[in-house]
Amino acid sequence: MNKLISNVKETFINTHKTEPLLIFSPGRINIIGEHTDYNDGFVFPAAVDKGIVAAFGKSDSGKSTAFALDMDSHIEFSLEDLKPSKQGSWENYVFGVIAEIQNRSNIIGDFNVVFQGNIPAGSGMSSSAALENSVVYGLNELFKLGLSKHDMIHISQKAEHNYVGVNCGIMDQYASMFGIKNNALLLDCRTIESKPYEINFKDHQLMLINTNVKHSLSDSAYNDRRSACEHISKLLGIKALRDATENDLKTIKDQVTEENYQKALFVIQENNRALKASKAIEDDDLITLGNLIYGSHDGLQHQYKVSCEELDFLVEQAKLNKAVLGARMMGGGFGGCTINLVEKNAIENFAETASKAYQDKFNKACSVYFVELSNGTHIIK
Ligand code: GLA
Repeated sequence: MNKLISNVKETFINTHKTEPLLIFSPGRINIIGEHTDYNDGFVFPAAVDKGIVAAFGKSDSGKSTAFALDMDSHIEFSLEDLKPSKQGSWENYVFGVIAEIQNRSNIIGDFNVVFQGNIPAGSGMSSSAALENSVVYGLNELFKLGLSKHDMIHISQKAEHNYVGVNCGIMDQYASMFGIKNNALLLDCRTIESKPYEINFKDHQLMLINTNVKHSLSDSAYNDRRSACEHISKLLGIKALRDATENDLKTIKDQVTEENYQKALFVIQENNRALKASKAIEDDDLITLGNLIYGSHDGLQHQYKVSCEELDFLVEQAKLNKAVLGARMMGGGFGGCTINLVEKNAIENFAETASKAYQDKFNKACSVYFVELSNGTHIIK
C-alpha cells in the first residue's frame, strides 16, 4: 500500500509540480446478500485493504486532466461539454461523477487527478465503486462542496447508471465509503443504514479465490435481472421484492415465466439468508453461516443464473474439503472471485488443491487472496 501511495504521489508531483490531496478508497467483499441491494433488501459487505489511491489538485490551465497509472492512459478534458466516453472505458467513472456533481448544481473548477489501484480488475471486488468514490470524495474536499457521505455514494451510483450503463444497487458504493476496520456491515438498502458486526472467526478465516475470468454480457445480464425483479414487484403491487414473502409470490405464479419466478424466489430467499447470517455471526455459529453461504451460491447458480462454470467448479472444490464451511460466488457474477469460509490451519492445503484442480480443469491459473476488513474512503494524511 505504501508503495502505491508514494507512486501516485510522486507521479502527481512530477507531472503537476505541486503537492496533491491524497485519497484512499477501498474495494469490498460481500459475505452474503447478493443481488438483493436493488430489491431494497439486505447485504453484508465489508471494505477491504485493497483499493484506489487518487491524487488531486486544482488546475489553472483552463483544462482538467486525469491519469490512470495502471493503464498508462492520460486524458485532457473540459468540464463544460462532458459526455460519456466509449463503453467500457475508465473515463466514464470519472466523467460520470463530475456530471452528477454538476447535475446537483454544485460548482467545481478544473482539476488534475492521478490514480492507481491494487484491486484485481474483474475480480468482483468493486474497483469501479472505489474509483467513483475516490473521485467524488476528492472533488468534495478540493472544492469544499459540503456533500455528505450519503450524497457522495448516490452520486457514485448515478455515475454508474448514467455513464457506465450498469443499473447497480448501492452496496458497493456504500461499503467502500462507510467501511469500518475489522467489521462487516449489515446494510438495509431501503433505509441506507447499516449495523456493524465485528468479524473475528477465530480458528476460521475468509479467503478469496479469483477465477481470473470475466465473461462478457455481464452488464446486460445484470440490467435484465434488475428489470425482471421490478416487473414482478409491479405485478405484486409492492415497491420492491424486499416486501414479498414466498407465499405472496405464489399468488402470481401463473402470470410469470418459470425463469422469472425462480429469480424472484431467489431474491426473497437470499434476503432471508442475509438476515439469518447476521444472526449466525452474533451466535458464533459458523456451521450455519457456512451453510447459508453454500445456499446462496446454489441459488445464484440455479435460480438467478449469474454464475459460470469456473465459479461453480471452485465451489465444488470447496465442498470436497471438510475444512471449508461455506463458499460462493461474490458480486455481480459471471466471473470474479469466490468467497470461502475456511479453517485457518487448512488454508494452505485448500489453496493448493483448489488451485491445482482449477489449473488442470481450465488450463489456466486462479489466484488466492486474503484481505483485511478496513475503513472506508478517506484522506491519506
Ligand atoms: C454488483 C453491483 C451491486 C450488487 C452486486 C450483486 O456488484 O454493483 O450493486 O447488485 O453486483 O449483489
